[in-house]
This record gives sequence, structure tokens and C-alpha cells, in this order.
Amino acid sequence: MVRQLDGGARSAHTDFFHTGPDTLAGRYMRTFWQPVYHSDDLPIGHAKPVRIMGADYTLYRGETGEPHMVDARCAHRGMQLSPGWVHGDTIRCFYHGWVYDGDGQCVEQPAEPQPFCDKIRIGGYPVQDYLGLVFAYLGSPIGEGPPPPAIPRYPTFDNIDGILEMDSYFRACNYFNNLENSVDTSHVGFVHRGGAGAWDGATEGPIIIEPTDTSWGFSSNVRRPGGQVNVAQFGMPNIFHAKALPVEPEVLGFREFLVWWTPIDDESHIQFTVNAVRMPLEKADDYLARRAASKAKRTIPKEQLAADILAGKIHIDEVDPSSTDMIRLQDDVAQIGQGIIADHGNERLGRTDAGVIKIRQLWTRELKALDEGQPLTEWRYDVEELLLLRAGQ
Ligand code: FES
Ligand SMILES: [Fe+2]
Repeated sequence: MVRQLDGGARSAHTDFFHTGPDTLAGRYMRTFWQPVYHSDDLPIGHAKPVRIMGADYTLYRGETGEPHMVDARCAHRGMQLSPGWVHGDTIRCFYHGWVYDGDGQCVEQPAEPQPFCDKIRIGGYPVQDYLGLVFAYLGSPIGEGPPPPAIPRYPTFDNIDGILEMDSYFRACNYFNNLENSVDTSHVGFVHRGGAGAWDGATEGPIIIEPTDTSWGFSSNVRRPGGQVNVAQFGMPNIFHAKALPVEPEVLGFREFLVWWTPIDDESHIQFTVNAVRMPLEKADDYLARRAASKAKRTIPKEQLAADILAGKIHIDEVDPSSTDMIRLQDDVAQIGQGIIADHGNERLGRTDAGVIKIRQLWTRELKALDEGQPLTEWRYDVEELLLLRAGQ
């Protein structure tokens, strides 16, 4: 067995971490739509550079309001396209004005005496706004390879009595550390000890995690110390649906959230989060203003604090909880503290790792199937099946 510096002993079917275009996990992730941006952060007529799974792209919103994603660079002399200009549903390169449509087809070469745009094409990719996020399908450029699957829908989040709140963040480690952390509930009693909804893991006893297979991935019943049962549902390959305590009295009942972990590259990722916040609509503006104000008070970036804590310069118990996003700092410390890419080869797993083990089993099975040219599981978010499993919560 070969030992790798960044991940211990692993075969291709257990390398979930490397998602560049030519890797097995990267090919698997590219068979799914992935969120790549907040819709509100992409105004009409603007272009942004984005990096997803180790590859660079240009994301822009046409003057029609439609989002488009093409390769990062112009085919002429390689200029990055995002500083260019959006006209209609096209983007014009800043350097010498070549124009591309959303399929990546060059449609204008204004400085050329004899244009040859019909011979020039860069990659263009299917993109759609959904649930306040821009989703992209990066399996193959438009016009090459099989057509993309339909974008999955999440009916629980389509029509809610309230608002959808986007609440995403960056983390400087491999996406799989975070993905596994989602079903590793025992960390809550230590990493988040003292926080709302947490318990003291050192004194309040063990937790029991029982995963059950679903059409989407698996559903975990988590029995906390004291007997309270929570249900967390994991969707293949990198999605999670759970409930959280309301953050404000006006919020009616639990917040439900959907989460995706999208790799930027192998050493960093974004968690895209959609919260369904049930509340009277007339109170929504005030609610969002209060949330923004409390975020504005957090003046110390969690990234710097996490680095200082892991370097031994301070202990997390010395951090002023109002100065930063404490829960995310706690998770930064735990997840980056596993190593930028966690070393699965040296772990000693226990019963509380039942969810982690389940994720690895499903992923290994699918990567093996992809590698061997066998059919992949067609995962489905079956709202009735999943609701039934959450009923006892
Ligand atoms: S590099 Fe884009 S038009 Fe020349
Ligand atoms: Fe956590």
C-alpha cells in the first residue's frame, strides 16, 4: 500500500479528498449539480471569477437576468474574462474585445479584419438560480458529453411560511472534513460545549447514532444525553438536511437548513447554507437587519483566530465570544485541526462514528462503480420518505 503525505494509506476508491478534473472523486462530484455562488451576489451585468474543484471559471449574469458560466480565460491570448463587459447574455474580453455567449461560443472579434469566431469556442456550463443560490453542472461543457440531469428540487424549501436565508462560509480545509463532521454529532458536546443546543460531553454521558439507508443517502437518529432524539439526513454526495434551534423569538419552530460543501480546491471549501426561517413575512426585514447587525459586531475574522489557536498562541476559551462567529470558529479549530486533508489511515473509529463510516461506505461503493464503469446509484430527495423518518423528532 502506498502512503501519501496528505492522507495516509488509501486506494483510489477511498480518495474522497482530491476533486480536480482528472480525479475519481472529482469525476463523481461532477455528476451532480453543485452550488457555486449566492444569487444576490451576482447582480445583472456583472462577472465574477470562481474556482470550483480546482478549476477556474467566469460566472456572469446577463442583462436578461440569466446566469452563465464559461471558462476562466479568453481563447485569444489567455486574458481572464471576469474583468470584461457583459452585453445582453454575452461577455466581452477586456483585452481585445472578443465576445462569448453563455455556451462559450465566440460570436464577435471586432478588431480582426477577417473574423473567425465560428472556429473559436471555450467551455460553457449549465447554470441555474435555485433557492437563492447559483447551481452549476460541471460534468462536461455544453455541446460535449451527455446532457446534464435535471437539477434536484427540495420541496421542503420551495414554499415556506417565511424566508430563505443564505448563510455560507469559507473554511481552509478539505471539504470532506466538514462533510463528515456533519454526521459526527458527538463533537457538539465538546467543540460547542456551553453553546445553545449543546451539552457537556465530558460529564453527560455517551450519545447513540443509528443511521438508516434512504433514497437520498442516509438518515441518522441521534440520541443525545438526556434522551432527546435528533434526526440528521445526509444526501449523496455532499448535502445535509437538519434542524436547528430558532435564533430569535419571532422565528416559529425549528429552523431547517440544507447545506452543501463545495470544494474550491483540495485545501479549501465553501459551505453553502440555505435556512428556511418560518416567521411572519412582515417581520422579515427587521429580522434580517438584526442578523446583519449582529454579524457586523464580529470584527475578528475566525480564520485568523483559528490559525492562532492551532499555532498555540491562544486557547479558544480566551476568545471573546461576541468578537467573532464562535460556532464557526469552534468548527474551524476542530476540522482544520484534523489536518488540511484528514489522515484517515491513522484513525481509530468507535461507535459514535457510525455516520462517518456510513458516508465512507456509500462513497467507496460509488467511486468503485464509477471506476469500473458500473451504473451509479440515482440518489433522490424523496420528501415523504425523509419526512416520515423525521417524524419522531
Ligand atoms: S485575450 Fe481576449 S480578446 Fe485578446
Ligand atoms: Fe460543529
